[in-house]
Amino acid sequence: MEPSTEKISVKDLSMAYGDFVVMRSLNFSVKRGEVKVIMGGSGCGKSTLLKHMIGLERSSSGEIFYDGELFRPDATAGDAFCRRFGVLFQGGALWTSMTVAENIALPLESYTRLRASEIREVVEFKLSLVGLAGFGHRYPSELSGGMRKRAGLARAIALDPQILFFDEPSAGLDPLSSRRLDDLILELRAALGATVVVVTHELASIFAIADSALFLDAETKSALCDGNPNDLIDDPTVDSKVRNFLKRGELDQATAPAIK
Ligand SMILES: Nc1ncnc2c1ncn2[C@@H]1O[C@H](COP(=O)(O)OP(=O)(O)O)[C@@H](O)[C@H]1O
Ligand SMILES: [Mg+2]
Repeated sequence: MEPSTEKISVKDLSMAYGDFVVMRSLNFSVKRGEVKVIMGGSGCGKSTLLKHMIGLERSSSGEIFYDGELFRPDATAGDAFCRRFGVLFQGGALWTSMTVAENIALPLESYTRLRASEIREVVEFKLSLVGLAGFGHRYPSELSGGMRKRAGLARAIALDPQILFFDEPSAGLDPLSSRRLDDLILELRAALGATVVVVTHELASIFAIADSALFLDAETKSALCDGNPNDLIDDPTVDSKVRNFLKRGELDQATAPAIK
């Protein structure tokens, strides 16, 4: 039997906060080694979906499979699953009272039996992967915004995760740093052989990194499409909301009365 190409498979996933339904019956999969973007307007449920995928929120119904295995974050095996994940949230969230090297060492100290000298080596290696070799002794406050993100990334890859999850990784970065971060995400995917799930609404990033992109729509509480953004943008069978999003509202402008 051939190994399945599906790394993640989401089946009939419904998400809600109390009575407030965020999304109904989502179905999609993420192929091994691909960069999957989750896109859509503010408040449509992108972060919520990411939190479900890593077990920080529980679904009202539906299932998530990793390598064909049912993900049950509350079961004892949940930890083993989570070891496969590297997560970078919006703020990058490094401990400000620790140096960058200490931040990256933390998961290694908690989850491995490596000796201090080995941990130092791994930390230096991860720092070099994100272009921060030699910066380990700095405190987060002594780094630029872009460097802090990369330090967060180094921590996210400390345990060699199979899957990387990013929530708005380039939020707050200037366009150039944002682009460098996109390049870095692709480099890390290659270096780690990882599968990548990125939440973003930034068009430049979507076109730069997505192998496929899932569009979440708050109005219908559903995914309107899942495909390569370069194909979606000109496909007349794709919902016009998606094409309009990918064209920064150009379709609206074409039909709106001219501003005098
Ligand atoms: N902890 C929460 N409790 C209640 N409602 C929430 C919570 N987190 C998010 N929401 C609501 O769920 C919807 C989706 O939020 P979110 O996933 O953060 O959207 P996005 O990341 O796409 O901007 C929004 O309407 C938001 O207000
Ligand atoms: Mg969000």
